[in-house]
Amino acid sequence: MLVIKMDVSRLFGEKFKASINNFERTRKIYREVFDNRLYISISKLYSKKVLDTMEGLISTGKEANVFLAHKNDKKIVLKIFRRETTSFSKFLEYVESDPRFPVIKKNRAMISNLMAQKEFRNLKVAAKAGCLVPEPIKFIDNIVAMGCVGDPEITLDKLNKAEIEANKEIIFRGIEDNMKALKKGRLVHGDLSEYNIIFWKDVYFIDMSQSTTYDNPRAKKFYLRDLQNIKKLFEKYKYKSEFVEKEIEGLI
Ligand SMILES: Nc1ncnc2c1ncn2[C@@H]1O[C@H](COP(=O)(O)OP(=O)(O)O)[C@@H](O)[C@H]1O
Ligand SMILES: [Mg+2]
Repeated sequence: MLVIKMDVSRLFGEKFKASINNFERTRKIYREVFDNRLYISISKLYSKKVLDTMEGLISTGKEANVFLAHKNDKKIVLKIFRRETTSFSKFLEYVESDPRFPVIKKNRAMISNLMAQKEFRNLKVAAKAGCLVPEPIKFIDNIVAMGCVGDPEITLDKLNKAEIEANKEIIFRGIEDNMKALKKGRLVHGDLSEYNIIFWKDVYFIDMSQSTTYDNPRAKKFYLRDLQNIKKLFEKYKYKSEFVEKEIEGLI
């Protein structure tokens, strides 16, 4: 165990160490998520030649922490699903205190591993259908390694109105094209909004751990919600989308 830990520490470059020292937020996440098990998972990614240095924290969400890493000169993104505070945490806390369910700790790990696996698979399905998404590289335990889109990792919600206006046609047509591709792949994003769309020369959809195939009985409901979110975004910029209108009509 000790050997692995020593080996892995070499992966944490100066930038990563600096970011831990400089930012309280990173330090807190670091304490929360970097346990022995995570070091082992990261060392597996290293030995499978997925990455060679860890950089810093990009984002802290309710289900996952997103880190930047490097392989040679290429940036890659590691999405690490939380073991302790998944969205099931309330449910888990409740059941965990019940002595009849002693195996639940193991289940927490299983759920975060499953989410990583699901996100990886969904990215593959989406890419195959022609939807622009980060390149899925590998999943190991509760980590998905994927290509990094853009430099500043800026999602649509972080762009100001003028920036979006200036690229309106490319952005909105890109969203439509991605939605059409997902339809072709029979996949529903499930959390589609400006928070999960990156504009970097092209338009990319991200965050697919909750995405689901058409055979899920709730797929229609999720699809309608995605469509309505996008409709609202389009309306804000007075962009007319026949595709979105027709899809909504067909569902209600
Ligand atoms: N492949 C990627 N390339 C660049 N930035 C990314 C990538 N994946 C995630 N991010 C950044 O990390 C944030 C959180 O990732 P996301 O997959 O949306 O997880 P969450 O479930 O926390 O919303 C995104 O809003 C984006 O800023
Ligand atoms: Mg997101």
